[in-house]
Amino acid sequence: MKRQGHTGGAADALWYKRAVIYELPVKSFFDANADGIGDFPGLLEKLDYLEGLGVTCLWLLPFFPSPLRDDGYDIADYCNIHPAYGTLDDFKRVLDAAHERRLQVVIELVLNHTSDQHPWFRRARAAARGSVERDFYVWSDTDDRYRDARVIFLDSERSNWTWDSVAGAYYWHRFFHHQPDLNYDNPAVLQEILAVIDFWLELGVDGFRLDAVPYLVERDGTNCENLPDTHAVLKTIRRHIDERWPHRMLLAEANQFPADVRAYFAAGDECHMAYHFPLMPRIFMGLHLEDRHPIVEIMEQTPPIPDVCQWALFLRNHDELTLEMVTDEERDYMHLAYSVDPQARINLGIRRRLAPLMGNNRRRIELLNSLLFSFPGTPIVYYGDEIGMGDNIYLGDRNGVRTPMQWTNDRNARFSRTDPARLYSPVIMDPIYGYQGINVEAQERDGSSLLQWMKNLIGLRKLFPVLGVGTLRFLEPENQKVLAYLREHEHDAILCVANLSHNVQPVELDLAPFAGFVPIEVLGYTEFPIIGERPYFLTLGPYGFYWFELQRRDA
Ligand code: NOJ
Ligand code: CA
Repeated sequence: MKRQGHTGGAADALWYKRAVIYELPVKSFFDANADGIGDFPGLLEKLDYLEGLGVTCLWLLPFFPSPLRDDGYDIADYCNIHPAYGTLDDFKRVLDAAHERRLQVVIELVLNHTSDQHPWFRRARAAARGSVERDFYVWSDTDDRYRDARVIFLDSERSNWTWDSVAGAYYWHRFFHHQPDLNYDNPAVLQEILAVIDFWLELGVDGFRLDAVPYLVERDGTNCENLPDTHAVLKTIRRHIDERWPHRMLLAEANQFPADVRAYFAAGDECHMAYHFPLMPRIFMGLHLEDRHPIVEIMEQTPPIPDVCQWALFLRNHDELTLEMVTDEERDYMHLAYSVDPQARINLGIRRRLAPLMGNNRRRIELLNSLLFSFPGTPIVYYGDEIGMGDNIYLGDRNGVRTPMQWTNDRNARFSRTDPARLYSPVIMDPIYGYQGINVEAQERDGSSLLQWMKNLIGLRKLFPVLGVGTLRFLEPENQKVLAYLREHEHDAILCVANLSHNVQPVELDLAPFAGFVPIEVLGYTEFPIIGERPYFLTLGPYGFYWFELQRRDA
């Protein structure tokens, strides 16, 4: 097997199952050349911070040349770096330095569309009808084909077709009108994309997040999502990678119901990972309802996946908290609970960060992170959420959750030395979440800060690999406000118990199969009374949770 690009490819083929992923936009992290925009040299300086935090994998948001009308998801050149973020050499330096620290690096592969500024699109518009060049994109003389395909960016687009006067035809786009969809019925498109894949894997990146992956292929009479030919494209990509680049990972962004997402794992021969989109809003619902039902229900509807595959779990990310995969009733409920202010809403979701969604309640933030880190899957932390950063819902689009990282209480949160007016985005300055109070430096010094707590949680997660690879089994205590589940793998078992309510709760757990075991509470390594045949009684403080390692004690 080819192993050039030797810096990439973790030693362990299933590294992504034991990973803790940190999602970050290079632009927002640290600005080394004082032009107001974060860059690769800046990220290089901050790798020590990420290593100290304990995460094991970085997921970098798009950093390619782009007109930045969709924050870089509108790519104009797949094989280069946006000059504002640095050069390809700067990227390589970050990649190598990350690998030296045993941090894997996952980047974006935007398969579905390009920017309308991409040379392929410029060429297509002017090319002859029916030519290979024209057919890099999806054209039509009318705007009424594929009517059953929904519009995703409801607040900004009315149709998936836009008229192009140069081509004299409509082109197809599932997202912004300036993001024409590539045409995977044209084999030349896949050839180009495979070359892009080889380019980055040769450099040594460890994996790709496959953006907007359900929409690759369109067919009449369907909703144009999750179609068999789309899966065929992905299987070809996977085969191509497996034959050349060992231990690389594909993560599917498929915002779909569990059964449809399941298809992206196929028989373990398509994507290694996929986000669990339906779980995330139900965690927020369960918390607000103070009832475990929505969480248990969605996990029970989640089909099993092949052993080599893994769910990617998240609480928040760079987009709105999406409510596409819930019922209308549930969506209304979520808005009532978390976004009474209409300014906080966008498309079908909520553009807020974790801390403000939690009303800045430290216990609730911790509880949700405890679920993120103990549910079956690999946790993803969104940059800034480890210090409880706030948002700015007045910034337009989803920019309110993409503000500069808050490093210190100095000017511009020490994100950048530039003139504040020159920053790519204002820093958060309100009295609760402003950088004067919420910043890395302060939290590094404060032993009881959220940051220190997160470091500890990440450390625990790594100490108990069963949390990454184990099975999930819910217990059914009578008290519905308590969520109790077992994570098991071979001889390891962790019992997790979480109180979704703001009051103290009692719970009786049926642990008879573990009679003779001793629960060790892992945060304090505290031994609890031995488990017997009778129900095991626990009391949980408001939003309290326990992780117990169940240790066998032979009499
Ligand atoms: C999903 C990305 O997460 C989002 O930020 C982007 O706007 C769309 N895909 C379109 O690329
Ligand atoms: Ca810069």
